[in-house]
Amino acid sequence: MEELEIIDPQEHLQDFFKMEKYRQRISQMAVSGKTSIIVDFEDLLAFDQELAEELLENPEEYLKHADNAAYAQLRIEDPEYSETIEKVAARIVRLIGTKHLRKLGSKNIGKLVMIEGIVVRSTPVRPMVMQAAFKCKRCGTITYTRQTGPFLRAPFACTDPSCRRKGPFDLIQEESTFVDSQELRVQERPEDLPPGQLPRSLNIKLIGREIVDVARPGDHASIVGVVRAVAPTLPTVGKLRAFILHLDANSIGILGKEPETVLPSPEEEEKILELAKDPWIHRKILNSIAPSIYGYDHVKEAIMYLLLGGVPKSLPDITIRGELNVLLIGDPGTAKSQLLQYVARLAPRGLYTSGRGTTAAGLTAAVIREKGGGMSLEAGALVLADKGIACIDEMDKMRPGDRVAIHEAMEQHTVSIAKGGIVATLNARTAILAAANPALGRYEPHRTVAENISLPVTILSRFDLIFVLRDEPNKEADSKMSEHILELHRKGLSPVEPPIQPELLKKYISYAKGIKPVLTKEALQRLKDFYMAMRSASETEGSPIAITARQLESLVRTSEARARSALRKEILAEDAEAAIAIMRRSLEEVGIDVSSDKIDIDLIMTGKPKSLRDKLQTVLSTIMEMERETGLVERIALLDELETKYKIIRGEAERLLGQLIREGTVYSPREGYVKKT
Ligand SMILES: Nc1ncnc2c1ncn2[C@@H]1O[C@H](COP(=O)(O)OP(=O)(O)OP(=O)(O)O)[C@@H](O)[C@H]1O
Ligand SMILES: [Mg+2]
Ligand SMILES: [Zn+2]
Repeated sequence: MEELEIIDPQEHLQDFFKMEKYRQRISQMAVSGKTSIIVDFEDLLAFDQELAEELLENPEEYLKHADNAAYAQLRIEDPEYSETIEKVAARIVRLIGTKHLRKLGSKNIGKLVMIEGIVVRSTPVRPMVMQAAFKCKRCGTITYTRQTGPFLRAPFACTDPSCRRKGPFDLIQEESTFVDSQELRVQERPEDLPPGQLPRSLNIKLIGREIVDVARPGDHASIVGVVRAVAPTLPTVGKLRAFILHLDANSIGILGKEPETVLPSPEEEEKILELAKDPWIHRKILNSIAPSIYGYDHVKEAIMYLLLGGVPKSLPDITIRGELNVLLIGDPGTAKSQLLQYVARLAPRGLYTSGRGTTAAGLTAAVIREKGGGMSLEAGALVLADKGIACIDEMDKMRPGDRVAIHEAMEQHTVSIAKGGIVATLNARTAILAAANPALGRYEPHRTVAENISLPVTILSRFDLIFVLRDEPNKEADSKMSEHILELHRKGLSPVEPPIQPELLKKYISYAKGIKPVLTKEALQRLKDFYMAMRSASETEGSPIAITARQLESLVRTSEARARSALRKEILAEDAEAAIAIMRRSLEEVGIDVSSDKIDIDLIMTGKPKSLRDKLQTVLSTIMEMERETGLVERIALLDELETKYKIIRGEAERLLGQLIREGTVYSPREGYVKKT
């Protein structure tokens, strides 16, 4: 018969804590007033593989041994400090391999696992009673009872031998011991999510001063703990047979927020650098973005800048966002949703959501009341997409609460909340690609952007670029687009092969995002000239502010993104010009004639009395009035009338008339004459 060597696990673990590294950790506990010690799982594995495996299989028992062993060692290293604390908690970190949230099941119950995820919800830290002191109301004797489980339990009977009555009892708080506790909900990270799946989540219970209040909603955390299953109780019916899993946390650590930079292999890096040498690299990237969607080159260009982003500036007094915000306003069926979903898939940390949001927290954050009556803070889409790209479809349909909070989120990149006793500021350093439908179903070119979309001006002005996607019948474009779509359906493939495959494009983008381009003198001059020209145009007109510092910052961000697209560390004049061009395009799309340099942001956004619409209305009603008198309206007579009666100068009147003709509200039956259609 083999000789059995029986080792006491606690003694064996104490040998582990006698290793130099851990002796040091233990003797330093007093300095920081700690009551726990961090144990690297790898060290344990190296020390004794069998012991390490036991810990994974029977954590309940072995964690207790580890706690006791650590405390025993503390009594040797620092007897004085050991007197002041009751116990030591061994906190295990860095297990080998993480368990996927969605793979957690019955076979993991009672086992020690490590999971990674994003914290979506947290309760405030609450004191939880561990040992309750109950005073007998009959004789005054105090009975101490250890508390486990979710409910407070009074002793079965008074411990005084001469009393032995079954109460009633009073809880004496001062004599009871409490520990800090908190509950979190952790959800699969967007990047871990299988395509098209809803994220799974898991509740985490944290007990102990050193692990509560470590993670906030929006944080990415790695948590080691014991998987538990609890049967939910239904009042009057009893406990259900189907249990709910949660994790009793042993340790928690915050992971870096940077999206995992998929490091390119040396061959890929070579390919990336080769691509960057191409003078047409911008075109190549642009043509690789959503190749199945026909046209929209300017939108795809904006998406390219959005994916690459600018450089955030963090000065001692202020911080300026680097991420771009782009809004697509469009008629139904213009591929907005398709573009958004594509970007959410391509971006390193992309999140697709609708304006209504998919959770109680909506787009920003919310304080919600839990079933038990407690409050908890839940992160919304923009917080979850921190350091990534949030694609918000149907943004015009967002909730009233979000409408207020999104202002701060879009410019300051934080979400602050103070409600129900919870006060917090969460990070939302997110680039936003949003889509919205026109308020009246279809985009009305006569009206201003603000009138066309049910979003307040204050939100609109936080978008760097706004584009209007209109679904207008146009023979040539319709023919090409239908060919494209039909070909796509016939082949089941995109008719256009992207010049850069999506996998490589992803890597190219994350590589480019590591570059921090700086403005050259020439580029700076270009941007300044454009800005000054726009400002002075409004000065002479006496009209309100033409463009604001916001647009100037947008131009810088866009130029930075443009330089990144060629992996350049310097922002050249051509980058500044490209940024100016796309900004002009965006301003034009929202209904302003840029060629005359009379851009008026207030006009676009607010539609004040002097607005374009009113003027167009004036022109139209004048035409109708004159028509009543003369039938056909002589063009010259109309312009005269507008100038004398309404003080609309000739140049402008001509432009307004041109716009009405382009839109088909007015036509010219004969040279020199106009008529309303
Ligand atoms: N330019 C285009 N190229 C290829 N397909 C297109 C294009 N425009 C629209 N489609 C197709 O039309 C369909 C409708 O697009 P999508 O659902 O994205 O529209 P939408 O703009 O989100 O509309 P809504 O405002 O109603 O939500 C999609 O299947 C899309 O592929
Ligand atoms: Mg849609
Ligand atoms: Zn009693």
